[in-house]
Amino acid sequence: MTKPKVFVTRAVFPDVLERLSAHFDVECNQSDQIFSPGELLEKMRDVDGVFTTPSERVGAQEIAASPRLKAICNMAVGYNNIDLDAATKAGILVTNTPDVLNETTADFAWALLLAAARRVTESEHWLRAGEWKKWRFDTFLGADIHGATLGILGMGRIGQAIARRSMGFDMQVIYHNRSRLAPELEARANNARYVSKEALLREADHLVLVLPYSAASHHAIGAAELDLMKPTATLVNIARGGIVDDAALIAALKAGRIAAAGLDVFENEPAFNPDFLALSNVALTPHIASASEPTRRAMANCAADNLIAALSGAMPPNLLNP
Ligand code: DGY
Repeated sequence: MTKPKVFVTRAVFPDVLERLSAHFDVECNQSDQIFSPGELLEKMRDVDGVFTTPSERVGAQEIAASPRLKAICNMAVGYNNIDLDAATKAGILVTNTPDVLNETTADFAWALLLAAARRVTESEHWLRAGEWKKWRFDTFLGADIHGATLGILGMGRIGQAIARRSMGFDMQVIYHNRSRLAPELEARANNARYVSKEALLREADHLVLVLPYSAASHHAIGAAELDLMKPTATLVNIARGGIVDDAALIAALKAGRIAAAGLDVFENEPAFNPDFLALSNVALTPHIASASEPTRRAMANCAADNLIAALSGAMPPNLLNP
């Protein structure tokens, strides 16, 4: 019997490719080049399944041009790179990799918050540049984390994991979300208090963005929202670039309308706005919040599990189609 054909869009862990090869006739983009939309469309044209990463945009055009396609399995919890509506209309199963990355991503939100608020990366650059000549009482004064109010916009499982970690810093947690959490979940999330988006922006000493990207969350943080924040506040984005209006954030950081930002994601990444590089009050990382060895491996295996289930007629564990 011929095996179903699958295309793996990036050079992922070899052992995960081996697992897939036991079930499928696998073609993998071993060169790890980023495909243009036209190239991706050609690669998907006659496969039964595709294993994608956040770098590939699988839109209505790619879906319409792939008559054999039965499953799109994304190696990420975010799936804004896939046109879920078009896939659903075409009868194609779409999956993501939730849960396996919650704790690792929450750890990294803290790394960025601490780095930005306590000026870790900024002061390291200064030290490496040979600028450290003497101790001064006011060298790199930052904001306190302990005892502060942590704001979380988007209180899903990653947001709750971030909130739980704030107990060690004796923080108060406020959050805004599409819907309020059940009381027992709020209690576990360091007694997080549900507030309006406006109150969140006004009251948070440090604000972490963890909401999914969609048309509704596009530029959820723009000039008007940044104006509501405290001038001493830190903004951390580990969600998706399009949630923040980068030009407005750059203007706010330049003008000192907020104190600092920690950013793991950018609009149009990896080609982010170069004006960020000229700012000292921002800690920048290249979309690595989930990038611990065990977690990236778990994500790849989760996407593989979904693909194996989807193409064998079983219900994939992380089906997204309504
Ligand atoms: C996700 O899972 O959506 C992350 O952004 C990819 O690391």
